[in-house]
Amino acid sequence: MARIAYVNGNYRPISEAAINVEDRGFQFSDGIYEVCFVVDGRLWDAPGHFRRWRYSLAELKMRSPMGERAMRVVINRLLRVNRLSTALVYMQATRGVAPRNHAFPAEAIAPSFVVTANPFDFAAAEGVAQKGVGVTTAPDIRWARVDIKTISLLPNVLAKDAARRQNAVEAWLHKDGLVTEGAASNAWIIDQNGSLITHPLGGGILGGITRERTLACAAALGLHVEERPFTLEEAFKAREAFITAATMLVMPVISIDGKPVGTGTPGPVATALRRAYIDQCRAENSNS
Ligand code: PDD
Repeated sequence: MARIAYVNGNYRPISEAAINVEDRGFQFSDGIYEVCFVVDGRLWDAPGHFRRWRYSLAELKMRSPMGERAMRVVINRLLRVNRLSTALVYMQATRGVAPRNHAFPAEAIAPSFVVTANPFDFAAAEGVAQKGVGVTTAPDIRWARVDIKTISLLPNVLAKDAARRQNAVEAWLHKDGLVTEGAASNAWIIDQNGSLITHPLGGGILGGITRERTLACAAALGLHVEERPFTLEEAFKAREAFITAATMLVMPVISIDGKPVGTGTPGPVATALRRAYIDQCRAENSNS
């Protein structure tokens, strides 16, 4: 069955779904996106993802292509036509179509809106989590507004590619010796005292929605949390490490630049947080 995408009001096979060549997303990366995890037809952490969607649009002075309720209708229909119940949903809005000019038109133009859904194998992901993943490190060469979830991701793409070449799944970005976040995830360590450490909000990272719930799970588990930047040196000496993102939930990290973290296996804290995260989302979604 051909995969179906939603593009500006139409549900089309991916190969036929098209965007105007003068779309500002295509020419300037002038747009934003969200990725949501869907289990049994339910969007996990939906309020957070919609809140950040609105924030990103506002920061770029963009109009939303439609309201949240209408977006949910599109997502549900897209899942239905693709016969998906556990999936990753990608939504992207760009400023719209206009003759190429860096400055965008003064009068509002209609934003472009695209949604795709890809199957997600939860059992396989659980298998990966049981083994853990490796990360590499790379200088953080991104712009200063990484708090906005823009589609402008070239430094992230290059860092991920370098990681993949070293058989790692993620790159941890660092600036002035401090780890900011992953190329597509937030970065966490547990130090030798058992403190959970992750970069604070307020500059330098994207405020991950998975990060938010992981902090709540950590509080519920009674963990000591420090929201502060940590050094590369601290990362190499950590007892445990993990990353969080909608695409991976809480994923244990077992090596950094090929060097084992702690015992080189998924640690108990990361494993407990992943369990707590999944249990909490499942419980919320079965109650609603
Ligand atoms: N990326 N930091 C960056 C730079 C990210 O791109 C992401 C997510 C996160 C984690 O955010 P969240 O927990 O809300 O998924 C942090 C998505 C998954 C992506 O680009 O595919």
